[in-house]
Amino acid sequence: MLLIQSGTVFIGDKFVKKDILIDNGIIVDIGTNLKGTEKIDASGMLVLPGLIDPHVHLREPGATHKEDFTTGSRAAIAGGFTTVMDMPNNTTPTTTKERLEEKMKLAKQKAVCDVLFHFGGTDDNFDEVKKANPPSLKLYLGETTGMLVLKNQNSLEKHFVNFPAERPIVLHASDHSPDEEINLGKTYATVENAISLANKHKRKIHIAHASTKKEIDLAIRSKNCTVEVAPHYLFLSTNDLERLGPMGKVYPPLRSEQKRIHLWKSLENVDCIATDHAPHTIEDKESGSAGFPGLETSLALMLKGCDLGFIDKLWLIPKMSEQVASIFNIEKKGQIKKGFIGDITIVDPKKVWKVDTSELETKCKWSPFEGIEFKGKVHTVIKSGKIVYREYCFV
Ligand code: DOR
Ligand code: ZN
Repeated sequence: MLLIQSGTVFIGDKFVKKDILIDNGIIVDIGTNLKGTEKIDASGMLVLPGLIDPHVHLREPGATHKEDFTTGSRAAIAGGFTTVMDMPNNTTPTTTKERLEEKMKLAKQKAVCDVLFHFGGTDDNFDEVKKANPPSLKLYLGETTGMLVLKNQNSLEKHFVNFPAERPIVLHASDHSPDEEINLGKTYATVENAISLANKHKRKIHIAHASTKKEIDLAIRSKNCTVEVAPHYLFLSTNDLERLGPMGKVYPPLRSEQKRIHLWKSLENVDCIATDHAPHTIEDKESGSAGFPGLETSLALMLKGCDLGFIDKLWLIPKMSEQVASIFNIEKKGQIKKGFIGDITIVDPKKVWKVDTSELETKCKWSPFEGIEFKGKVHTVIKSGKIVYREYCFV
């Protein structure tokens, strides 16, 4: 019986001073003066539900020189995430049942956190989608890393009709034409079209990596549509491109400083936060790859947003846990609640730190946030009742 004692615990929608008791991987009691056999002193710490990231690229199989299930899941744990949802744009995309099962097997052998999988939809894999019966489907409506993109306009509606309505279809709506007016115009048109189709078929859709206020404004008009934002669009803009050079390339691209500020202002309308952890080696970045690693910096960035007064922790925590579970129908996770899985992230809110790239768990060993000072760091992580990370180290 694991006892987490005297922490400031996020329960429901507020912080309260409580003990938590976990037995057999399940939260069995929340109260005061509880007794356990193994103890963690959490006084002075924030005790959060294990965070859930709906959008990561762990690269295995196919590009394990960038990341694999071991390094990617260790980055997740070090960043406070006990569950991540892996994207299907592998070198050989996850578009058949067999490939999904191969990924599941590898993750089971290697990952130290839970990994769930988005299945990729193509112009001709409708039967495979049925066979695989995945919890969510990802459709690429614009090109990005990998070969996975929907080319035929009719395929979109066909997937919308065939895939169970209560399971979200995640959409990569962004276009990456170098001209911003063109790429944003295309992105907005794609989002609008997808939302009207979702409304027509009364089905759930989820817009991945919104980078502008306008996408959020479009999404909130439909009860069938949810939307995520990645922290890099809140903390980086085109002003950083000169400094970052090739390391600053990401899809969707970084936006203007004005758009970045507008994104903060409409953040209250987003449904969840996603890291879009998309690791590439420094060599791959220098030859043009798009994407940032994000698992180890996203919580710290969002806590910085709280310290800066842009958002409140009471708003933030569910957007990185309960809300993600709700959108993706993940049961018994995302909340500290009796009967729920014992996934807990303990944060030292006073710990001041900076990214040391040599100490990152991600295989890519770089970060666009190197040099920024953070306050608040993941101290201890409990996965299914087991301590996997303690005092900033894996156990
Ligand atoms: O920058 C990006 N990198 N955007 C994406 O949509 C994909 C990702 C990747 O897989 O590298
Ligand atoms: Zn992505």
